[in-house]
Amino acid sequence: MDQSKIGDLSKRIMGAYEGALVSGMIYLGDEMGLYRAMHEQGPITSDEVAKRAGLHERFVREWLSLQAAAGLIAYEGDGLFHLSSEAGLLLAEEDEIRSMARWFDNFPQRTALLSEIPRSFKTGIGISWSDIEKGGTSGRVQWMERQLRPWYEQLLVQEVLPELDGLIDELNSGVSVADVGCGSGVAVVTMAEAFPTSNFHGWEIAPLALDRCRENAIQSGVTNAFFHDVRDHRLPEDNSFSFIATFDCVHDMTSPEELASAIYNSMTPEGRWLIVDPTSKGSLEENIKMPLAVFGYAASVAGCLQSGMSEPGGAGHGVFGLPAPAMQELTERAGFTRFRQLDIQHAMNSYYEVRP
Ligand SMILES: C[S@@+](CC[C@H](N)C(=O)[O-])C[C@H]1O[C@@H](n2cnc3c(N)ncnc32)[C@H](O)[C@@H]1O
Repeated sequence: MDQSKIGDLSKRIMGAYEGALVSGMIYLGDEMGLYRAMHEQGPITSDEVAKRAGLHERFVREWLSLQAAAGLIAYEGDGLFHLSSEAGLLLAEEDEIRSMARWFDNFPQRTALLSEIPRSFKTGIGISWSDIEKGGTSGRVQWMERQLRPWYEQLLVQEVLPELDGLIDELNSGVSVADVGCGSGVAVVTMAEAFPTSNFHGWEIAPLALDRCRENAIQSGVTNAFFHDVRDHRLPEDNSFSFIATFDCVHDMTSPEELASAIYNSMTPEGRWLIVDPTSKGSLEENIKMPLAVFGYAASVAGCLQSGMSEPGGAGHGVFGLPAPAMQELTERAGFTRFRQLDIQHAMNSYYEVRP
């Protein structure tokens, strides 16, 4: 036994435990509006924070002390706590693309899911996205929507779609577009607003996500966005779609092969499929060195692999199971002949344009 290794490892394990505890406290701060109460206020007492958030001072003071111990909020002495402008940007600003408070949105529900997950390890059958949502308690749809809304609203139309040569002109001229595995429908609604002469169709398998899609469409007032339950209406195999997108969901499918074939058969001969899916380096040795490896593998065990294994014989790629060459092979087996990785930098995802 190497005593220094035991020391190093125990520090690492304690760090992981503290990380989980601080995550819970960030969730509380976001949920109860504590960061927002401190944002742009300068140094402020616990009394003032409590008043601004409408909460009891004694509990707020203990939470502030924890935040100071964790290095998220500065303690400046004389009972004054300060949320710096940098911390405010990351923890208090909703529409800021770099904001991170939203990551903690469904922390209690995610933690509760841990009691369900051992069943998958025993049976080999994962929990589908629909089952994760059963009872409406998982917060999964709301979490994903809050995560991705700023990205869709601020970057999709402005920076990603123009990377596909000629696509913006096509969308302006009026074409049919599909988003498969569309989640809460924010991408569909965002594109429908930007291109009113085109029609946008979202396909989903999870009922709560579909409910949210319809709410989002009504709220935005668009009349060119339509949503379908994939279990009742499959993608029409009529070569009608000029553009199909899959955002962060090929690896989630029990059968990405079926998805690729369905997309091939529903697309015009000159159509394009935009795939946005997690970057994988192809080997475990390289993947575990990526900056978001811990997040990715945890999201896989608790979500993406669950979805991909939710039926017997499910492909179960997990978050890092489809590196670019495997993705290309998958599309070629479905009949696609052109595969191009787009030059878009993203912390987690790679972007591909695929054409028949
Ligand atoms: C990680 S989420 C991404 C959601 C959405 N594209 C977004 O970016 O917010 C993956 C989505 O794929 C959906 N999904 C899984 N299997 C599906 C299938 N066979 N057909 C349609 N949607 C499916 C899940 O319900 C889930 O909403």
